[in-house]
Amino acid sequence: MPPTLNQARPYDNSVAFLTDKDVLDNATNIIPPSLPAAICYGRVKDPESCVPKAWWKDVFGDNLYLQTDGDVVEDPEITFEEIRLLETHEPIRSIFQSVSPSGSTERTRILDLCCGQGRHVLQLAELYPHLELHGHDQSQYLIELAQSRAAVADVSGRASFTIGDCRAIPHDDNSFSLVMVMGNSFGYFATDNANANLLKEIRRILKPGGFVVMDIPDGAYLRKNFSARGWEWIDDTMIVCRERELSKDKRRLISREVVMLTGKGVIRDQFYEECLYDLAEVHQLVRESGLVPEQRVEDVEENTIGRDMSKRGEDLGMMENRHLVLVSKPLL
Ligand SMILES: C[S@@+](CC[C@H](N)C(=O)[O-])C[C@H]1O[C@@H](n2cnc3c(N)ncnc32)[C@H](O)[C@@H]1O
Repeated sequence: MPPTLNQARPYDNSVAFLTDKDVLDNATNIIPPSLPAAICYGRVKDPESCVPKAWWKDVFGDNLYLQTDGDVVEDPEITFEEIRLLETHEPIRSIFQSVSPSGSTERTRILDLCCGQGRHVLQLAELYPHLELHGHDQSQYLIELAQSRAAVADVSGRASFTIGDCRAIPHDDNSFSLVMVMGNSFGYFATDNANANLLKEIRRILKPGGFVVMDIPDGAYLRKNFSARGWEWIDDTMIVCRERELSKDKRRLISREVVMLTGKGVIRDQFYEECLYDLAEVHQLVRESGLVPEQRVEDVEENTIGRDMSKRGEDLGMMENRHLVLVSKPLL
């Protein structure tokens, strides 16, 4: 019998999760001790025009993201609680617990799309050793970290990772029982069409009758409640100052982060954007892509785990209020 969540423990932080210091010590790409003060763009009139087209390549390209967002994405207890929340949905729980019929070598396949440093894959590999887990992400830095953590935890045989864009997933048609898109990784493309195309790509690799679960920001809430300015001490020496505003079409949240280290000054000045979808709009995209929403809008669960459990508890930004949206691919 696979373990139930009550029997399992949060992923072992001491072994599998590096501390900020480990990450910094091992980093070759940013914040070397000799870094000259980086250039800050100063006050900009139109932040929207400063967002690079593929902004995610920079924002997730190195360890800085694991520090600025580490209060959520590097806390194993939060990851554990997120898996527990997934488990409250019967179709997801039964996929996690499904064991192949005796004599069959085929294992249930799950893909974590835009998996970052693989925190959900690694936790699931611990909880459910019979699953075949895959993670896919465009960030070479984060995927290499996921791979090294999988090796340390001795789960590489059942947790594998690939690097690349989510619009071209390197897996066969009809090959996964579940695709997870966790931790606010949907809505990065500037147009509805591009975001719907991503859902079509997910549909392609899902088995008929398979499921998608998306942990996405609550666009309706954020549109009204985003904080236009904030600063957050990441630790005693690093501070992030953020500016946010709605795009001109009011459909995207434009964010800017100026990151400073004491003694070094500004080390990063970055701009990014995300589409703000309310649930009806997400369901609309889901239907357009040939998938089917599994819940009524009023029954969609809220995920406030990051907000409620973050030990820093300061500026959670897009991670503040999220929704867990469950979607299926129709049987042929
Ligand atoms: C906010 S992080 C969330 C990571 C992970 N799902 C989690 O919950 O910790 C978003 C992730 O999406 C990935 N990503 C963004 N755009 C992508 C793209 N076009 N193709 C593949 N991955 C992408 C980033 O590299 C990053 O790891």
